[in-house]
Amino acid sequence: MSIKIDTVIIEPDSTSRELIRTYLEKVEDINLIGEFDDAINSYAQINEMHPNLIIVDISERTQLTLDTIVKFSKNLRNSKIIVLSYNADSELVIKSLRAGAREYLIKPLIEDDFIQSVEKIKDLILGNINDTTKCKVITTFSNKGGIGKTSIATNLALEIANLTNEKVALVDLNFQMGDVTTFLDLNPSFDTSYVVNNLERIDETFLLSTLEKYKDTSLYVLADPPDLEQAEIITSENITTLINVLRSVFSYVIIDTTSSFDGKTITALDNSDLILLVAILNLPSVRNCQRCFDLFKRLGYQKDKIKLIINRYMENDEIKIEDVEDVLGHSVYYKIPNNYFTIINAINKGMPVSDINHQSNLAKAFKELAALLSDNYTYSAQKQVKAEHAGFMGLFKKKEKK
Ligand SMILES: Nc1ncnc2c1ncn2[C@@H]1O[C@H](COP(=O)(O)OP(=O)(O)O)[C@@H](O)[C@H]1O
Ligand SMILES: [Mg+2]
Repeated sequence: MSIKIDTVIIEPDSTSRELIRTYLEKVEDINLIGEFDDAINSYAQINEMHPNLIIVDISERTQLTLDTIVKFSKNLRNSKIIVLSYNADSELVIKSLRAGAREYLIKPLIEDDFIQSVEKIKDLILGNINDTTKCKVITTFSNKGGIGKTSIATNLALEIANLTNEKVALVDLNFQMGDVTTFLDLNPSFDTSYVVNNLERIDETFLLSTLEKYKDTSLYVLADPPDLEQAEIITSENITTLINVLRSVFSYVIIDTTSSFDGKTITALDNSDLILLVAILNLPSVRNCQRCFDLFKRLGYQKDKIKLIINRYMENDEIKIEDVEDVLGHSVYYKIPNNYFTIINAINKGMPVSDINHQSNLAKAFKELAALLSDNYTYSAQKQVKAEHAGFMGLFKKKEKK
């Protein structure tokens, strides 16, 4: 006999409710035990039902509904919550995930996304997810230095940790000029070479005591070796093993890399679930990105694995996002605003951007990127209308779009 997932729908709109019901019928082992049009008034009744899964629309009476979600997640420890909303605002996404939602889906619902989210939560409830498949390895890369890889890796890792409260490892694989520890003002006792030399001893306790915990967060930092000789000894096989052991303990592994296609960096890219390819809107950077895409293609990476990030973005930039997308044949996943003052202040103080100014456009961007990349948020990007800009385009050989 299979275990059923007792599910309730809280949805004020009857058409939406019906649609959700239809979608749920396509997922095995879902047992719909109640339908409500309002979370606040039905709170006591739902609480009594002890559902495993609560699907709740927060489009109306948003704050009150979120307060109720907080109560659900406190009282119903075995319930998982999926939030639905017409509002795609990142602040609301973050608030909902903090309130205890596991997933945030934007309405109108897309059937495949919805079913996928329900399946994911179902696996979580049934304990079908083993630790290694749960972990997401995200590597920042660019074959140019000074583009923002370390700034992004560091701030993203911290924001994912803050958002999810899950264990996040931040690994500095820039063995020539690693500066993750400088960015976070850490002075760790151990580094990658120590871990690699003790691979046979590695278990969760070892890793959690060896990686440097960042303040009272769930972020753990693995520094680069202090001298190049120690770094030289580390092999590509060691990097693969290292990533695999990190996968077994952490929910997210964020890797910062050097700006070259050396064997160790490629090994890290091979072993990543996602590559954040960082570029800025100028000609040399876009040209370099083109080279990266060529290499990624030769390495057989799926297009989905690569997320193109534009750093130091300014709306009035001469080169337009659409141009870059056309030239590279790849859509831009996220734009991080240009804010030199805030970032340099953060770097010089060895603090994350959100501690320098959590209201800044940059802090908000890192939070939003964290929400997008965390497993709790399903984002259905709208297709953008592309404009042709022949001047810039003429400089490139055109690529096939997916
Ligand atoms: N969003 C941004 N806005 C303005 N300046 C930035 C931004 N991101 C990075 N920078 C600048 O770029 C420099 C290089 O960033 P860093 O993260 O060290 O790049 P990389 O790791 O690719 O070498 C930083 O010192 C900072 O001055
Ligand atoms: Mg760097």
